[in-house]
Amino acid sequence: MPTRNIVKEGDLCLRKICRPVTDFNSRLHILLDDMRETLAQANGAGLAAPQVGVLRRLALVLLDDGSYLEIINPEIIEQEGTQSDAEGCLSIPGVWGIVERPMTVTVRAQDRFGNEFTYQAEGFTARAFCHEIDHLDGHLFTDFVTEYIDPEELE
Ligand code: NI
Repeated sequence: MPTRNIVKEGDLCLRKICRPVTDFNSRLHILLDDMRETLAQANGAGLAAPQVGVLRRLALVLLDDGSYLEIINPEIIEQEGTQSDAEGCLSIPGVWGIVERPMTVTVRAQDRFGNEFTYQAEGFTARAFCHEIDHLDGHLFTDFVTEYIDPEELE
């Protein structure tokens, strides 16, 4: 599977509102496979389509078991609590900052075949869902940072 180039902050792709996925075809599957490979190689916690220049509502999120969940046309339908922790983004390398997020979220999405499902996540994974879904509306985590962190302090 080929990898795709991850666009960086400043690219207009990252500031667009993405359109829903309507065709659950082989083209979509190739995109998802390529994004999975790109994400695995980058060792990231999530990757949204606009980060590879595709303005459609889909993303991959790293789960606790090390697998990636594909979420297509995702929506947060419930959220509870708050957490504040460090966040980064493959499109903004070397930048880390504290962002407040819900502690738990329930996401409704479709899989690569168009089947609807819901997924409940908490902690780090809930944060990743929020971050990736934000990308689909042109939001970057730096829009919400309350305090930037020196990356060396994360070690
Ligand atoms: Ni990101």
